[in-house]
Amino acid sequence: MVQHILVGVDGSHPSVEAAHYAMGLAEQTHAKLTFVFVIETPQVIPVGPLSGYVTTSAPRSQEDVKKAEAIVEQIAREKPALAVTTRVELGTPAEVMCELAGQLEVDLLVVGARGHNAAQRFLIGSVSDRVVHHAPCPVLVVRR
Ligand SMILES: Nc1ncnc2c1ncn2[C@@H]1O[C@H](COP(=O)(O)OP(=O)(O)OP(=O)(O)O)[C@@H](O)[C@H]1O
Ligand SMILES: [Mg+2]
Repeated sequence: MVQHILVGVDGSHPSVEAAHYAMGLAEQTHAKLTFVFVIETPQVIPVGPLSGYVTTSAPRSQEDVKKAEAIVEQIAREKPALAVTTRVELGTPAEVMCELAGQLEVDLLVVGARGHNAAQRFLIGSVSDRVVHHAPCPVLVVRR
């Protein structure tokens, strides 16, 4: 029985569609939902002894947190009858989602097949790929 569904939302169209799919499931199963938006924090990667390092993303501000909150809250408001909790976390998206899935003991983790990066070189994005491999629970990858 599905009682609690975690959904990864990054604000991209496929992630919003994944959230809608999860909301449809929740209506049928009466499961509660948690929407999580992970704000990617910069990671420092050494690129060689002489060349220094690169960072993977720009430092994040309070404004980014507000925008992320607004996105997940807006989706949650679409179906007031559902029990939806929204969260904004900082970190590496796939890691945070897998950890949260374990902590909250959810029965299902839902993500979109793609996110903001429309490059079609891979069938699914790197975040969906990682959660499929590492989540402690069943994963549903929504392809539309
Ligand atoms: N920062 C995030 N917070 C929450 N969920 C996320 C985040 N990033 C991705 N996801 C989830 O993973 C799904 C697939 O996104 P992913 O990032 O894997 O694809 P992509 O952006 O197209 O490719 P890539 O990021 O590998 O270049 C999204 O639809 C969303 O459900
Ligand atoms: Mg992405």
